[in-house]
Amino acid sequence: MFRVDKKFFVFLIICNLTLAHENEEFEYDEIEEEPSSNRPNIIFILADDLGFNDVSFHGSSQIFTPNIDALAFSGVILNRYYVNPICTPSRSALMTGKYPIHTGMQHTVLFGAEPRGLPLNEKLLPEYLKPLGYSNHIVGKWHLGSYKKVYLPLMRGFESHVGCWTGHHDYFDHTAEETGMWGLDIRRGYDVAYDLHGKYTTDVITDESVKIINSHNASQPLFLYIAHTAVHSSNPYSPLPAPDDTVAKIKNIEDYKRRKFAAIVHHLDESVGAVVKSLADKNMLHNSIIIFSSDNGGPAENFNLNAASNYPLRGVKNTLWEGGVRAAGFIWSPLISQHSRVSNQLIQVADWLPTLYSAAGGDLSTITTKLDGIDLWDELSQQTTADSKRKEVLHNIDNIWGSSAVMVNEWKLIVGTNYNGQWDSWYGPAGNRDPLSYPVKDLLTCKAGRALERISMMPKPDDILKLRSEATISCTNDPPKECNPLKTPCLYNVVKDPCEKNNLFEVYPNIAKALLVRLQDFNASALPPGNLAIDERGNPKHFSYVWTNFGDYI
Ligand SMILES: *[C@@H]1O[C@H](CO)[C@@H](O)[C@H](O)[C@H]1NC(C)=O
Ligand SMILES: *[C@@H]1O[C@H](CO)[C@@H](O)[C@H](O)[C@H]1NC(C)=O
Repeated sequence: MFRVDKKFFVFLIICNLTLAHENEEFEYDEIEEEPSSNRPNIIFILADDLGFNDVSFHGSSQIFTPNIDALAFSGVILNRYYVNPICTPSRSALMTGKYPIHTGMQHTVLFGAEPRGLPLNEKLLPEYLKPLGYSNHIVGKWHLGSYKKVYLPLMRGFESHVGCWTGHHDYFDHTAEETGMWGLDIRRGYDVAYDLHGKYTTDVITDESVKIINSHNASQPLFLYIAHTAVHSSNPYSPLPAPDDTVAKIKNIEDYKRRKFAAIVHHLDESVGAVVKSLADKNMLHNSIIIFSSDNGGPAENFNLNAASNYPLRGVKNTLWEGGVRAAGFIWSPLISQHSRVSNQLIQVADWLPTLYSAAGGDLSTITTKLDGIDLWDELSQQTTADSKRKEVLHNIDNIWGSSAVMVNEWKLIVGTNYNGQWDSWYGPAGNRDPLSYPVKDLLTCKAGRALERISMMPKPDDILKLRSEATISCTNDPPKECNPLKTPCLYNVVKDPCEKNNLFEVYPNIAKALLVRLQDFNASALPPGNLAIDERGNPKHFSYVWTNFGDYI
């Protein structure tokens, strides 16, 4: 009896100590703070192949993404946000602030056995931020060249990298199969991270990101580029790897591939929650800019063996239709005076470089190379109208495949198409688009929502529902007007007709002509594509089945 009491007494003391300790931690002002930088932390979260309809802030609740949505609704939803149609070109634009035609990166992706990389004369975003005092880190997928060490992140402005070098890998065994070759692709810096075998890639990326935030010295601003491999498909033997218990929890999706896809998105969403929470815990959130973006449109209905959705937009990844280039994305920051809004300001992925450099307090007049990106920091952070310094977007010119598209204000012209017209249609699933089915209250209790509540950034449920309906695109069910871009260019008013159903080429020949001239102007300034033939010497089988910077060994 006595002994039990004694134990209980000891237990009470321990509890009290723990409580006292916790209370102490809450008294922020009693902790001596390190000098903190006044430049904002920049966290860039890039999803891979995520479709416009694969998040729940654009009108479908089929795949519920509470953490992503909580950030979106407390930030600025970029409703007219454009990227390039495929991974490598889009990432090159993000890192250089230039259209891919101006760096030779416009044609398809970079392969692991291709002896090239993003040209070394290009200065990359972290190299711009470094002189401003930033500590730069990348976690996840690089995909801008691993032929030689000089092309790798650590030589191009980043201090650390945990992730992969090529375009995709298996989320558990981390091997990548492409161009008839197969090998391991997971690195910690230059070292092969054999120890991560079996650990789910999205969770590896989350843990590493949280580690970087937790150990960050706040006297410096942080640039953290989180380049998820989610939701890119994996190797053909297991195209959509997701933990079985996550898949089992998803009850509302019957289609098995879409259910596995949803499980992959779920881990991505949890990752966003964990990152936001760690920024809040570290007292960094109030001075951070977070961008969430997909790199291109979603591969739907088994394109790339995947199950994304861009509904109701037309086309898929690697097409110039809206479904290929209009991306799910937003910018979030307490530094934005009018947040919790849906923006129809035109913005393109190349704009991030000057925009973020400007937000970081950089002097744009010191940039001597010609950027295609435009500094939109004032528009995004101060303004609430649809005005944007950006009036036109070159979606891409690919003279090898014979496809190109340009948009000026609301007018978009498409010339030629990829896949010989096979992926020019509309693809599902639409998902559940009943606004009442959206569990809005769950946004307040997810990790990101709770962190945002702590800095009073979460809007009220009614306001969230209003924003969500503003960010939802709907189109008529009218039959589309015939258009075959392989024969004649197609012209659309994408503001009135975001689903590209009503070809106006013959109705507005002068507008079409003006856009053709713009395309030719851009074409005249294009560099030849830098693609090179696959080099057998890069086959991982020569390097114990590891994808390697083979150019350094030949
Ligand atoms: C953070 O950096 C500052 C300035 O370099 C230094 O004085 C301080 O000791 C650092 N803090 C930690 C915990 O390393
Ligand atoms: C761009 O110019 C090249 C030749 O210089 C030509 O072959 C190609 O068709 C042009 N593309 C467009 C979209 O005008």
